[in-house]
Amino acid sequence: MDKPTQPELEPQSEPQQPADGSTGGNGVADGSGAAAPRTGPAVGSGPDRRPKVVLGVSGGIAAYKACELLRRFTESGHDVRVVPTAASLHFVGEATWAALSGNPASTEVWESVHEVPHVRIGQSADLVVVAPCTTDMLAKAAHGLADDLLTNTLLTARCPVIFVPAMHTEMWEHPATQENVATLRRRGAVVIEPAVGRLTGVDTGKGRFPDPAEIFETCRRVLARGPQGLGRDLAGRHVVISAGGTREPLDPVRFLGNRSSGKQGYALACTAVARGARVTLVAGNSELPDPAGVDVVHIGTAVQLREAVLKAAADADAVVMAAAVADFRPATYATGKIKKQDGQEPEPVALVRNPDILAEISADRSRPGQVVVGFAAETDDVLANGRAKLTRKGCDLLVVNEVGDHKAFGSAANEAVILAADGAETPVPYGPKEALSDRIWDLVVPRLTAP
Ligand code: CTP
Repeated sequence: MDKPTQPELEPQSEPQQPADGSTGGNGVADGSGAAAPRTGPAVGSGPDRRPKVVLGVSGGIAAYKACELLRRFTESGHDVRVVPTAASLHFVGEATWAALSGNPASTEVWESVHEVPHVRIGQSADLVVVAPCTTDMLAKAAHGLADDLLTNTLLTARCPVIFVPAMHTEMWEHPATQENVATLRRRGAVVIEPAVGRLTGVDTGKGRFPDPAEIFETCRRVLARGPQGLGRDLAGRHVVISAGGTREPLDPVRFLGNRSSGKQGYALACTAVARGARVTLVAGNSELPDPAGVDVVHIGTAVQLREAVLKAAADADAVVMAAAVADFRPATYATGKIKKQDGQEPEPVALVRNPDILAEISADRSRPGQVVVGFAAETDDVLANGRAKLTRKGCDLLVVNEVGDHKAFGSAANEAVILAADGAETPVPYGPKEALSDRIWDLVVPRLTAP
């Protein structure tokens, strides 16, 4: 995934076509509730209609960061209506939201009653994103309370709904919060995982508001999946993805590594979030930022990767091994730097085999019905080697791609053939790694057993 460019906070420019290429659509997908989809067109639908986004803001200090999210929406041609809660106005005032969005920002259902805002705003939205979302707001949404304009909007929306929780670690980890999150996800809402880092005050931990640029990317992906919310076919599912390359240390300064950039695995993680999944990304070496909404476990070696993947896979519906795992590691690790000796040839480096994690997971299937996907990086006889590897590894799907100079590694695009254990072969033409990721999920979804 390429890092999005940083727009500057300047006076608002003229509306443009949405950057995601979407035309808005009808917003008929299921929102945070399990209610029936809307069948009629959204008000003002048409090819030139700007996608209508509702930005719900609840009472957390991260409300100020939502200003940047709002600018990203408006500058890329979205029509944004901000619905702040009364508590959030302690952090950012109504005037800021109205000025930045170009639309009125109201909190209560009693304003402009003739327009029936408590119903209209949700009904006509193509996307509702609540950012930041407090633990109180998660609880209200999960239980269907409707005591202000935002909670009413959540109940009337039939479009995709994204919650961006931000709170202290204790609140996030509390079973009450986690149960509310699980409820919302089960109903099809996208609840993105908070980031880990500095929180308000002196503490650090999970609960931080993710980078607005990353949140915007998730929103863009959800919108691009279309009005039917086709996307949320991974709602309520836990998927584990490994990405990047492992590094096998030889001494404190040297390691055996590989050219993997992590882009394919990160694209798989981002597309899975947009399709509603809870995502654990086990990340080897990569320079990419942690994607918003994903639980990221950073590892170094193949042995650490194995441990992290097996742990996360225990309750996973699908495991995708996109990491480039070193097959061998140095047999010994020198605790001090290996020095060259004048007049002496270097000692050869003895290697030992690393565990084959994909083969182990495919044999294990820690959860019944778990779908396991592998990648095959080949330089010669690509398809023949891929077919043999599929059988040898025992996975359900194997994404075969040719690697080499300027191919696959490090590039933002890729082409592949996805081989299935039942003999089906799906060629995926050259295109962005996100497109390949979506094709992979398209093939995973029908293989998942009923939740
Ligand atoms: N893989 C793994 N554990 C390893 C090596 C690879 O889990 N020790 C996984 C990779 O993540 C990938 C798949 O196995 O999903 C295939 O990786 P690849 O490097 O193409 O194949 P190898 O197993 O190394 O086989 P070969 O040496 O024949 O290329």
